[in-house]
Amino acid sequence: MSDAIAKTAHKAGSTAVQRCIVSGCAAAFGIREQIYLCSRCGGPLEIEIPLELLKSVPDLRERWQARAASHDPRDRSGVWRFRELLPFDNDAPVVTLFEGNTPLYDAPRSAEYAGLAALRLKHQGCNPTASFKDTGMTTAVTQAKLLGARTVVCASTGNTAASLAAYAARADLQCAILLPQGQISPAKLAQSMDYGAVVCEIAGNFDDCMRLISELADVPSIYIANSINPFRIEGQKTVAFELLEQCGWRVPDHVVVPGGNMGNSSALGKGFDEMLRLGLIDRLPKISIIQAEGSAPLAHLFAGLKPSEIAADAALPDDIVPVMHPRTLATAIKIGAPVSWKKALRAVLRTHGSIITVTEQEIADAKAIIGRDGIGCEPASATTVAGIRKLTASKKIHAGESVVAVLTGHVLKDPDYVSHYHRGTLSFESVTEEGTAKTVHIAGAFRNAPEKVAANKEAILKSLENRR
Ligand code: F0G
Repeated sequence: MSDAIAKTAHKAGSTAVQRCIVSGCAAAFGIREQIYLCSRCGGPLEIEIPLELLKSVPDLRERWQARAASHDPRDRSGVWRFRELLPFDNDAPVVTLFEGNTPLYDAPRSAEYAGLAALRLKHQGCNPTASFKDTGMTTAVTQAKLLGARTVVCASTGNTAASLAAYAARADLQCAILLPQGQISPAKLAQSMDYGAVVCEIAGNFDDCMRLISELADVPSIYIANSINPFRIEGQKTVAFELLEQCGWRVPDHVVVPGGNMGNSSALGKGFDEMLRLGLIDRLPKISIIQAEGSAPLAHLFAGLKPSEIAADAALPDDIVPVMHPRTLATAIKIGAPVSWKKALRAVLRTHGSIITVTEQEIADAKAIIGRDGIGCEPASATTVAGIRKLTASKKIHAGESVVAVLTGHVLKDPDYVSHYHRGTLSFESVTEEGTAKTVHIAGAFRNAPEKVAANKEAILKSLENRR
């Protein structure tokens, strides 16, 4: 690449702006302004990269691919490899744990279970802190350093916290995390403690923690790293680029993700959209979001939209009705008032995808089936395969189409859940229509409990014979 072209390529990042997504406002702000919402109308912000500058840059795809074999720390990151599309100067001091570059697996058993000829699983649990959050945290914490923040904070159902705590430690920043007390997997909590974060257990749910976080937004030394922060989304969007690269730049028909606070679906939508606008792909995959039945505000909103409201360019609704007491054993997505719902809905509408719910039993069984493919994920991630099964049954996805499910977290994030499922002791606190509490037993349809075996060869062989 000539010097002139390289300069143009790197200029894109440094001339990006933060833009309000509310049509009719569309206010623009500098990329080093420490704001999280539009200071004119309060709408969500997103980063606008001047893609026209990059259109003249030849061989971007080859350039990104070649970096994967380089030893430059930025090239070893699956996020910074795509730095022409990130809102930073070329010489920004990046905070990285070599995130991204995660595997895309074929999953034949999961495919059969879901009613498909083939299914691929993009395993974001193979990141440094074992969830997809790392791809966004590398950019958010790099931005925190550039802004001169002293403390980084987030509300979390566990994974965002673990990730932020790790990146803050790398960057030598103080980190405070707000967690709903007693509603976090102990494995995730242990990570945050180990990485040295100030762990604040809040008497309330995730949505209460998120409200407290927004009250901290006006303290200049504090930087918020939840996905309302558009710099998180910038890192997370690179998963779309990496996935396309792994698919040989053949666009999958469907990409299916779990939905919680809705940063992931928003980010994938932005990533694919940028690739389309750069002319590196010629169509978009349909993006579908799956929510747990007891924590599904966006699926409820989507189900209630009129045909005119689901057009690709339809105006977005102003409000969402929050779920006041979200419930699910998939604690990662136990969220009633998702902050990024507008961006996520926009991505689904633009790509003609769906937003649906799955039950606790469906999540648990799908998780066990994914396990039988030799791939371990946490419960929230398994909503994808459960959801694909439903979308196949309702003919929204056809058996021969190419489908990618994004697994968001590693199986060891929530070992108690796995153990209870396989031992047949998993249960869920639900409420009846009259509002009374009831305990629902989750059957271990694919359970695989340990058995007591005598300490001799014959007993072991007999045990194997019995399980053939
Ligand atoms: N899967 C896992 C494993 C998660 O941890 C989360 C979100 C999601 C899916 C949903 O992604 O919020 O981008 O729609 N976890 C957040 C947290 C809320 O605090 O760790 P989303």
